[in-house]
Amino acid sequence: MRKRIENLKGLATLRKNDKNCDFLAGNSMDDWTMIPDAFIEIDAGLIHDFGSMSSCPQESSNMEIIEGTGRFILPAFIDSHTHMVYANDRSDEFNMRMHGSTYKEIAASGGGILNSSKQITSSTEGQLLDSLLERIEKSRKTGTAALEIKSGYGLTAHSERKMLSVIKKAKSQVPQKIWSTFLGAHALPLIYNGNHDAYMEEICNNMIPKFADEGLIDFVDIFCETNYFSPKHMDVLCNTANKFNLPLKAHVNQFSSIGGLQAAIKNEAWSVDHLEFMTERDHQDINKAFEPNLSPRKPIPVALPGCSLFLDIPYTPGRKIIDSNLPLAIASDCNPGSAPSSNLSLCWSLACHKMKLTPKEGLAAITTNAAYALGAEKQMGHIAKGMKANLILTKPLSNLAFMPYSFGENNIESTFIHGK
Ligand code: NIG
Ligand code: FE
Repeated sequence: MRKRIENLKGLATLRKNDKNCDFLAGNSMDDWTMIPDAFIEIDAGLIHDFGSMSSCPQESSNMEIIEGTGRFILPAFIDSHTHMVYANDRSDEFNMRMHGSTYKEIAASGGGILNSSKQITSSTEGQLLDSLLERIEKSRKTGTAALEIKSGYGLTAHSERKMLSVIKKAKSQVPQKIWSTFLGAHALPLIYNGNHDAYMEEICNNMIPKFADEGLIDFVDIFCETNYFSPKHMDVLCNTANKFNLPLKAHVNQFSSIGGLQAAIKNEAWSVDHLEFMTERDHQDINKAFEPNLSPRKPIPVALPGCSLFLDIPYTPGRKIIDSNLPLAIASDCNPGSAPSSNLSLCWSLACHKMKLTPKEGLAAITTNAAYALGAEKQMGHIAKGMKANLILTKPLSNLAFMPYSFGENNIESTFIHGK
């Protein structure tokens, strides 16, 4: 049955006067149209019509009417970077950090990613799926209607496959659109004894061909960082991924600038994620990648402010990135070690409070620009006729800025996924 939500205080289109574009960059992130006193109609899971109440068509019989007085409709949030499959939390490591240990020290002594990896080995697919489904449901309550989920705590063919098959099962059990990313190159398993090249061979000759064949992967990813994997390893990974038409998303510049960003750009990454440590050179190179004559798919920068908060590291220079006329996306990074929260409403607040984005820019970063980071910009992330009806109906609010202003609060009344 067709649904109409009417008398809305505002409808956030995330487009300027219906103009078509793939993402919002620079000034346009703050300059999209908010329709006041609005309605929206949903039919067969898609956006059927929307506009100002003054142009609202006659109500037909057989139409469900939802009263929207005082509320806003936004495109539902899209989380383009999560590590949501994991066994136990790592609050013990958090406790150690609060007693003075550092993230790096904990990782070097076998904690961190390797700690989560041991737990994946000893968990069943059923256990991992149950906890994943709970996390996906939790993220829906804070507005997330589509998300990417990475492997990367398996680190052997058997355990990586376990993680990817859990993601595949989740895809068929929830209405949220899910993308699955193979992050085998997340940390070097101890048995490789420092031999990264040998592990990269296992990834490229065994894991990727098998997993791609089974339809388990949408993207590949790599943690390109001092003591983890190098830009050369990224080249090796992409050489294989290209044969299977698997685009790259990359963890770069989280703790240091070692050429990961440049390697990701060269390998035509669909997104470059983290970017907490950016040199002037890095800024120049990412700006160059957005010059119009280059390849049409751009490596959109993705900031992960939850990770900056949790690890107490710098925030991605989002203000500077937007001021240089680039787009910025924001994701949760939800994982047990560096960002144990999937709450994109909170990320929106952090984007404003800590990265100095405006409320409208922050919303663009977790909707339309996040859709672009996943290649889903034609299906979701903004409001237009024929787009998926993935929508957030807020509680009654004084204005849109109240959402990021009231950090840590949940101002969402309902999240619609495909109109439901
Ligand atoms: O994106 N940086 C690499 N990976 C995760 C953290 C992984 C962990 O500590 O478990 C991240 O922050
Ligand atoms: Fe991550």
